[in-house]
Amino acid sequence: MSIVIKNLSFTYSRNTPYEKKALDNINLEINEGDFLGIIGHTGSGKSTFIQHINGLIKPQEGEIEIFDIKLTPAKRPRVDLKALRSQVGMVFQYPEYQLFADTVEKDVAFGPKNLGLPADEIKERVKQAIEMVGLDYEAVKDRAPFELSGGQKRRVAIAGIIAMRPKMLILDEPTAGLDPYGKEQILNLIVHLKKHCSPTIVVISHDIDEITRFATRIVVFNDSKIVYDEPMRELFKHSHMLNQMGLDIPRAVKIANALRYKGIDVSDDIVTAEDLLKEVVRLYNKKHNTEKKADGVSFDLYDFSQKWAAAEDEKPTPENAPAPDADNITPTDKQSE
Ligand SMILES: Nc1ncnc2c1ncn2[C@@H]1O[C@H](COP(=O)(O)OP(=O)(O)O)[C@@H](O)[C@H]1O
Ligand SMILES: [Mg+2]
Repeated sequence: MSIVIKNLSFTYSRNTPYEKKALDNINLEINEGDFLGIIGHTGSGKSTFIQHINGLIKPQEGEIEIFDIKLTPAKRPRVDLKALRSQVGMVFQYPEYQLFADTVEKDVAFGPKNLGLPADEIKERVKQAIEMVGLDYEAVKDRAPFELSGGQKRRVAIAGIIAMRPKMLILDEPTAGLDPYGKEQILNLIVHLKKHCSPTIVVISHDIDEITRFATRIVVFNDSKIVYDEPMRELFKHSHMLNQMGLDIPRAVKIANALRYKGIDVSDDIVTAEDLLKEVVRLYNKKHNTEKKADGVSFDLYDFSQKWAAAEDEKPTPENAPAPDADNITPTDKQSE
C-alpha cells in the first residue's frame, strides 16, 4: 500500500459562523500501480482531500500514511514536507500560474534544486523532464514560460513536478481551461507518464468521459464523503445513483443505453468510445455478414454525441428515435438472432 487514509475529516473556518465541512470521515487506500480517477461535482471535497496528501492541509481528524511518512493532527513530530513532496508530486489546478522563472529551464530546475541535488544531476533531470512532457528541450529551454501557448505552459509546469521523480503523481483537474486539442495532448501525456515516469497516478476531474479514458479505478466524492470506490467498469452499474447525485455518466454509456432502449442488443460492457465503436462494428458485421475491423479507426465521440444531442432536441418519439451514425443498425438485428 502506498497511501492509507483513515477517518479523515476536515472543516474550513472551524468554530466560526462560516464553518464548512469539506471532508467527512474519508477512508481510502491508494495502491502502487493504481491509475485512480477521482470524480465528484464542484465543492464535493476533492481538492481539499488531495491537498492533505501533499501536506498542504494538516489533518484535523484522522490520519494519513504516505509511504513511510505519517500525517496526523498532532503538532509533533514535525513532518518532513520536502521528503513528502519529492515522493508525491502534485500538479494543482492551473499549475502554469505558478511558473515564475525567466526561462523554462530554470523553472523546471526549481524543484530538483530544492532537493539539494548536484548541478549535473539537476541538468540531466530537467532535460529528461522537458522531453518527457513532449517538448523540444533545445527549442524551449531558454524561452520565457509566458511566451509559450497555454498547453505548453501546462506541460512545463508538469515537467517541474516530474523532474523531482516522485513515486506518485496527483493531478487536480489537469485539462481545465484548455481547448480540445490541448486537452487531448494532456490526456495522452498522462497515459505516457503512467508508463514511463510515475507508476501510480491519481487524476481528479469532473469530466467522466476524460476519466474513463484511462482510470482503472474510480472514487466518487459526494457532499464531503466517498460514496463509491469501484473498478472503472463496475462503476456505471450505479448510473441511476450517479445521476441522482447530479453526476454525468460517460457518453458511450448513454448512447449504449439509448440503443438498448431501441431494442438493439448491445453489450452491457460499453464504457468508452472505443468500446462503443467496436460494438457498432460488431453489429454491422453481423448484419451484413462482413469482417470489418474497428482497429485504427478514429472515432470522434464528441461529433457523434453532438449529433445525438441534436436528434434528442427534436424530441422524436421512442419508436422512431434515430441513433445518429448507427442508423443502419436496426432492431431487426435483435430479431434475426
Ligand atoms: N479555502 C477555503 N475556505 C473555506 N471553504 C473552502 C475553501 N476551499 C474550499 N472550501 C469549501 O469546501 C468545500 C469543498 O471544496 P473543494 O475541496 O474545493 O471541492 P472540489 O475540489 O470537489 O470542488 C466546498 O464547499 C468549498 O466551498
Ligand atoms: Mg477542486
